[in-house]
This record gives sequence, C-alpha cells and structure tokens, in this order.
Amino acid sequence: MALINSVWKKWYHLLAVLLSLLLVQLPNFHDPARFLAEYVGLAALWLAIVSAELDRKPFSLHGAYSALVLSTLVVGSFVSKLILRRFGIFSSPFFAPILLLGLLTDRKLTINVAVFSSALLIASMEPSSFGFSLILISNLVAAVASSGLKKRLQVVKPAFFTSLCNVSFLLLGFFSKEKVVLDRNLLLSLLMPFLFSVVDLGLLPFVEYASLIYSDIDLVELGNMNHPLIKLLSLRAPGTYYHSTIVANLAEAAAEKIGANPILARTAAYFHDVGKVKRPYFYTENIQDKNPHDELNPKLSHLIVLDHVKYGQELARRHRLPLLVQDVIPQHHGTRVQKYFYHKAKEMGENLSEDEFRYTGPKPQFKEAGIIMLADSVEAAFRSVRNPTASRIKSLVEEIVSGIYNERELDESGLTLKDLEAVADEFARVLLSMFKSRIEYPKEEIKRVIVLAENPNHKPNKTESPDRENSKNS
Ligand SMILES: [Fe+2]
Ligand SMILES: [Fe+2]
Repeated sequence: MALINSVWKKWYHLLAVLLSLLLVQLPNFHDPARFLAEYVGLAALWLAIVSAELDRKPFSLHGAYSALVLSTLVVGSFVSKLILRRFGIFSSPFFAPILLLGLLTDRKLTINVAVFSSALLIASMEPSSFGFSLILISNLVAAVASSGLKKRLQVVKPAFFTSLCNVSFLLLGFFSKEKVVLDRNLLLSLLMPFLFSVVDLGLLPFVEYASLIYSDIDLVELGNMNHPLIKLLSLRAPGTYYHSTIVANLAEAAAEKIGANPILARTAAYFHDVGKVKRPYFYTENIQDKNPHDELNPKLSHLIVLDHVKYGQELARRHRLPLLVQDVIPQHHGTRVQKYFYHKAKEMGENLSEDEFRYTGPKPQFKEAGIIMLADSVEAAFRSVRNPTASRIKSLVEEIVSGIYNERELDESGLTLKDLEAVADEFARVLLSMFKSRIEYPKEEIKRVIVLAENPNHKPNKTESPDRENSKNS
C-alpha cells in the first residue's frame, strides 16, 4: 500500500516519462504492445534509479529539482531524437542534457539520469548494441566529467572526453562490420560535444534564473562580494559583514574536509545574516555604545532578533538567491533557544517557557546548512575570547559543537559524529591560523603628525558579548 501511495505521489513523473517516450517516437509509433512494454520498463527504471535519487536531500527539499530533471529530459530527448533522425547518431547532442544536469546537480543523480536517458533514446530506435553502447557510454562520460566544475572554461573537459568517446566509437564502427561511414561523421563527432557545451553554457543563466538551482560556476560568482545585498550589508552592518566573511572561511574549510560542497557553504555563509541590514544596531557585532536591548523587555528583544531571519528570507526571495542559499537563512539558527533573553526574562521574574524564545526553524536539512550553524556559533563565541591559545580554541570549538549536537539541532542535517569531529578540527585549525597571523609590530617611537579629536560618544563597549552564551543577540 505504501509503495502504491509513493508511486501515486509521483504521477507527474510517470506522465513526463510517457510524454518523453511519445516525443522520441514521433512521428512513427511502434505497435501498441511494444510501446506499452517500453513504457512499463522505462517507468520502472525511472522509479528505481532516478526518482529514488530525487528523494535524497537536498533534491527532495524543493520540487524545482524534479521539475528541472523532468523538463531537461523531455526537451533534451525530443531535440536529440529530432537531430538523430535527420542527421544520424553522430550529429545528435544526446549528451547535452546530461552535461547541463551535471553542472546543476550532483554526480550520482546525473549518472542515473544518463542511464535512463540512454534507455529512453534506445527505445525509439531499432535494436542495435552499437547504438546503445555509443549513447550509454557517451552519456556516462558526459555525466562523470561535467560534475564538480567550478569555472566556465572547464566545460572543455566533458566536451573533450565526450568527443573522444564518440570518435572512438566511430572508428570502431568503421573498422568493424557496422555500416559507419567516416567523412562528415568524423568532423561531427569531434565538434558536436564542443558546440553543445557552449550551448549549455549559454542556457545555464536562464535555467538558473527560472529554477533557482545554481551551478557551482555561478555560485562562485554570486559569492564574489559584488552582490548588491552583500554591499548593502557591508555598508549598513559592517560588524555582520565581517562576521559573515569569517563564517564563510570556517564553513568552506570544514565542508571541503568532509566532502560537502565548499562553494555552497561559502556563498550561503555570506548571505546567512543578510536580514540584519534592517536594524543592524540590535546585533552584538554592530553594537558600538549602548546595548539597545538593555532597555527592552526580553520577549520584545527576542522578537526583534528573530526578525533578521524573516527579513533575510524576504530579501533572498526578492533577489532570487539560489534555493539552497535561501534555505540556510532560517536553518542557521534552526529551532535553538535565545538563552540570553530567556535567562534575562527568568531573572526578571517572568514566567515564560524556553519555547517562547525559540527560533522558528527548520533545523538544518543538509550538511552545508549544519556546518554554517556551527561556524556561526563558533565565530560568535570566539569573538569574546581574550588571548586565545590553541588549547582554549580547541576547547571552545568542542564545547560549541557538542552543545549544538546535544540540542539535537543537527539530527536532520546528515552530519555524522565523524563529520563533526572533522568539522571541529578544521574550525580549530582555521581559527588558530587567524590568531597566529596577528603578529604585533615592534613598538617604535613615531612623531605624530595627525591628532584625532576626542569623541565623547565613543566609549569602549562594555556589553558582555551575548554570543558567548548561545548567540544571545544573533
Ligand atoms: Fe543569524
Ligand atoms: Fe551569523
């Protein structure tokens, strides 16, 4: 029953598979019995290898991933078959949709789509082991070579390997008993992968804008600090901007260490507190003189601080930030309690429960979001450490990571204890290297040529750093 239910929920997947099969067989359908058998086989293959992958995080978090894979498959297989029928198999860009998905999703999903897409195209052709091997192997090569690319120019890599594969098949077909002619096929099989990798690169920004699913190539560009939201953050909330860059460094290093996506971690970290551009002076890292929370009811303080998540999400939506970057904004606080305000309320004799001082969540849903939650708290706590030593940094990181783990905030993130150990180790290493770099210059007697006016308003910040106690204000 559960199986029927889960298949029923994917009715639109099965409809898209049917549409793809109809489109690749146009205008000549096979006989109905063969068509039905092919459809049942393809639907089963889809549910077993592609749909199962789409049920995995982060793809299961947004319907946009299924929509992207299905639409790429429908359009891609239709265009490929159209060109294949007219100009032959060596002219067909059947690998182009796979290359595009390789840039936008991960290797495992792309490989599974490559297998399915090959089976779909084969279902529209006369049975031939040569054609099947060519399509399957070229698709697999495109899938493996196109994932994990970080620069536009690197698309040369999948283009080159797909081209090599096509030419090898062409020569194999020519020297074996297959009826393959060299002439223009040699040029086509050489050039088509390069031509269609350029087409894919041209399509990429449009697909990203429509789906809000970003390739690593454009995530890198988004995180280059020229984004208007980052500029606004640096102008309105310089303390938060500085905090975000340190969180980005920590998160990137930790993600790299455990095999998560360091580019996503870095870019999402830049935007995680972007909501603080509204009322920046209510957050520890931007407070210069008086702490405005001193005069506020703790419940009101909680609501104000809570608002940076809501406003951040609104800004992220308005600026069409990638879906996973948007997800990190509420998830970096998860459902944690703002203990500073909770304890303050208790000290004031108010009878409020911990739950009234909770962030609204959800808890981190993928590894990079979990890492950013940890890096956020570690950075905030590190700020209040005077004279950090290696052992102090280590124990601070251990304390923060263990605390968040014990609060069960990381339960849905996919981070294992082994990951957490590696993440904590990396945090300690990065913080220590930052501390070591603060070498004091030897004192020299310098005759001063400028004297700054006394600023009566500028007093040292006596506010105890709230972040030391579970991110009081952030
Ligand atoms: Fe925050
Ligand atoms: Fe933060």
